[in-house]
Amino acid sequence: MADEATQAGEDDGGVATQERSDSLTVTDNRTGESFELPIEDGTVRAMDFRQMKVNEDDFGLMTYDPAFTNTASCRSEITYIDGEAGVLEHRGHSIESLCENATYLEVAYLLIHGDLPDKTQLENWVHEITIHTYVHENIKKFVEGFRYDAHPMGMLQATVGALSTFYPTAKNIDDPEERHMVAVRLIAKMPTLAAFAYRHNLGLPYIYPDNDLSYPANFLSMLFKMTEAKYEADPRLTRALDTLFILHADHEQNCSTSAVRSVGSSEVDPYSAVAAGCAALYGPLHGGANEAVLRMLDRIEKVENIPSFLDGVKDKSERLMGFGHRVYKNYDPRARIIKKNVDEVLEATGTSPKLKIAVELEKHALEDEYFTSRKLYPNVDFYSGLIYEALKIPTDMFTVIFAIPRTSGWVAQWLEMSDDEETKIARPRQIYTGARELDYVPLEQR
Ligand code: CMC
Repeated sequence: MADEATQAGEDDGGVATQERSDSLTVTDNRTGESFELPIEDGTVRAMDFRQMKVNEDDFGLMTYDPAFTNTASCRSEITYIDGEAGVLEHRGHSIESLCENATYLEVAYLLIHGDLPDKTQLENWVHEITIHTYVHENIKKFVEGFRYDAHPMGMLQATVGALSTFYPTAKNIDDPEERHMVAVRLIAKMPTLAAFAYRHNLGLPYIYPDNDLSYPANFLSMLFKMTEAKYEADPRLTRALDTLFILHADHEQNCSTSAVRSVGSSEVDPYSAVAAGCAALYGPLHGGANEAVLRMLDRIEKVENIPSFLDGVKDKSERLMGFGHRVYKNYDPRARIIKKNVDEVLEATGTSPKLKIAVELEKHALEDEYFTSRKLYPNVDFYSGLIYEALKIPTDMFTVIFAIPRTSGWVAQWLEMSDDEETKIARPRQIYTGARELDYVPLEQR
């Protein structure tokens, strides 16, 4: 093949033709052999390197990419990100337009089904989600078994995983009805599981879902309802929460979504796969960052301490949580929207001293060469914690609240993955660096 390309290039005046060819010519300098690899959608297939061998017994060349920083693991139609330009779109709709015009449940429908719903479709979808918010009473007993101070994210992981035992037919992953019900049940029950975890920490009775309320208002009711007959949420706060839900709904192949796809590729039931997503999200470099931001702002304590804190970041004894992103090398578009929302929420709830520290911290960092040269900008987690705090949600719950909307993204990605003809069980290779063929030394001689 390489020979053909070279031949065509020479006939047509060389370089010009080669530039037009959607292929990559690789010369293996160990053997002098050349290979032409097709380029499709800006990628070459890692398996195409396997043919490059030094001899017949050689396994063939592999690509090495710890943390998958330059490896596309799938084709997806769900979420588009241009990290350099700070663009985020779901199924072609910009995040700005969705936040301005849609509700979270509409966006969840969009992610799962591929298009925005019409009026009837939306009504049916909202109805279905609403009537599936209850969980089996045994889940309540299960939550009661946790220690009073169990982290709610640990409880969420466990209860989501446990759902697979309540819906064993979900393992029929090719059955269209089961697939639909997984999406409905997970999106519907996630706020209930999250609220039960919260009430458990406080030793308060669990509040059952209220089917008269919207998705975000029902969640606030399950968190905060006390003796009143009906919980009345401030509409400014339910809208702010719904916007946060939209902003967190999906973010293509991030750590937790890759976990869902990877675990799901074993053809385990989707509740177990989503429980793996919860586990990945829990980490402070991922969904746990919003919690870490608030703890960081607490530690900084006052504006005067910002310069010394940033010195600590620069000498790497600290990390500026809520800053930086693997994909965005520009302002995270979600952070821009959240920042606007903070003011609206604080107008309803009263000001937060931490907001002043956050705004100053951002300003200092964006004027500092350390951060600008590394293209470190605020990400979605920098300001979201301030909204959660203003909503009187405890810090431990922040990642749980991230998990609620991300569920629609996880399910959409799981559905897409299991429909993809190229899906195989995820199974990376390794470069073995350990010892080989050692003699066993008896215990008494070691
Ligand atoms: N504070 C200080 N330095 C940073 C930060 C930060 N937040 N993020 C990156 N850097 C530095 C890093 O030390 C490295 O510097 P050097 O070249 O001197 O070694 C350089 O910037 C490149 O960083 P990296 O670690 O190669 O970047 P990454 O793509 O592996 O990491 C990240 C991405 C999000 C894990 C990282 O930026 C980070 O730890 N941020 C703080 C945690 C955070 O806010 N996470 C939420 C991400 S958004 C929500 C989500 O998707 O969950």
